[in-house]
Amino acid sequence: MIPRRDVKPYGGLTYYIFKWFVNLFNKVDYSLEFKHSLEKLFGGNIFLLARGRFAFDLIFDSVNRNKNNEIIVPNYYLKELIPIFKNKGIKVKYCDINLNDYSYNIRELLSQIDEHTKYVIVSHIFGICGDIPNIITKIKKRNKNIIIIEDCAHSFGSEYNGKNLGTFGDFALFSFDYIKPLNLLGGGALLVNNKNYVTKISENYSKLNKPKIFNTVRKIWYYYFQMIILHSPLFLLLKIALRKNITKSHIKKMHKANPNVFEKLSGFQSFLGYYQLQNLSKKNFKLEKIRKKYIHLIKEIPHIKIINTGFCSKYSYYSFFIISEKDSSIIEKSMYELGIDVGIKDEVMDVRSNDRGLYPNSNMLYEKIIQLPFYYRLKDKSLLKISNALKKTAIR
Ligand SMILES: Cc1ncc(COP(=O)(O)O)c(C=O)c1O
Repeated sequence: MIPRRDVKPYGGLTYYIFKWFVNLFNKVDYSLEFKHSLEKLFGGNIFLLARGRFAFDLIFDSVNRNKNNEIIVPNYYLKELIPIFKNKGIKVKYCDINLNDYSYNIRELLSQIDEHTKYVIVSHIFGICGDIPNIITKIKKRNKNIIIIEDCAHSFGSEYNGKNLGTFGDFALFSFDYIKPLNLLGGGALLVNNKNYVTKISENYSKLNKPKIFNTVRKIWYYYFQMIILHSPLFLLLKIALRKNITKSHIKKMHKANPNVFEKLSGFQSFLGYYQLQNLSKKNFKLEKIRKKYIHLIKEIPHIKIINTGFCSKYSYYSFFIISEKDSSIIEKSMYELGIDVGIKDEVMDVRSNDRGLYPNSNMLYEKIIQLPFYYRLKDKSLLKISNALKKTAIR
């Protein structure tokens, strides 16, 4: 089975565990080092967190709100995030996307804004961005007090016109989950660009705990467990025996290692972050090569379209997505039978639960988009196997 994702940080984890132990004697505070490296990159104030989604908690707890406040989110979005808004008593309004860059349908977005709109999430889903300065200018023209939160969970390293995504809104969140551009086995960060909120956010952040050492050990344990199950030849028989559910359950297992405890990023993950950041361009160089090979192999396959990178002047290589003419569930199923784990439906919001007719583009994307395996260790022979399988399933 070729898994959809790889859990290995660039350079491997074992190397960094040894390096971490050696560095313990140096007494360097890597939480600070990592924070400063990110601040140098993005310009604003960075707050390191145990998960990316905790950035929302930090924002909502630090901005004056009332019970009528609303948040506008794209109707094609990660489903797990919606309860965070609702639990804070914020009413959620959905807005359809456009099919050129998968950002908002601007006309619809503007029509949704009213006196209750407090927040707008601008999501750079798949690492792709829309015409972000234009979107923000139009929102702020309606009401300059609306708070713009850029969701950069997928877009660490993507740029618009040479400027980092995350630096356009009042706030931005990043995720360092094991499948994200910067893989720290979990974690995230809040970037605060609007100086008016820095004091309150710093105050609330200082009340958070650092994770217990047990949580970091558990993350490391899950990591090795995944590596053995997914990649070790020793477990080939087990893999064959459990073939049906092994790659799907692997995602859930890693998620279990990222508990929903609102706390800071651990020292070890900050250490890992500091070094992963230094290696990001090397990793992206490999991913760029893989992306080019993919495009070369599948560009002629009928009924398949490779999604573009929108307004990005530089792309983060979060993943590799295609749009099929057939319903993606059919392709997912046939590819799985051919030993390749593809898909995305299980993670994004099931947009069909909202009013279908109102969100035609989100519905279309939900039904047609497919994530192909994509990671820096993907071998040429796997790429060939994937493209052949895709050819078979697409024209079947
Ligand atoms: C679009 C998007 N936003 C936010 C998040 C939250 O990140 P985390 O899992 O680090 O909390 C994710 C996670 O997958 C995501 O895909």
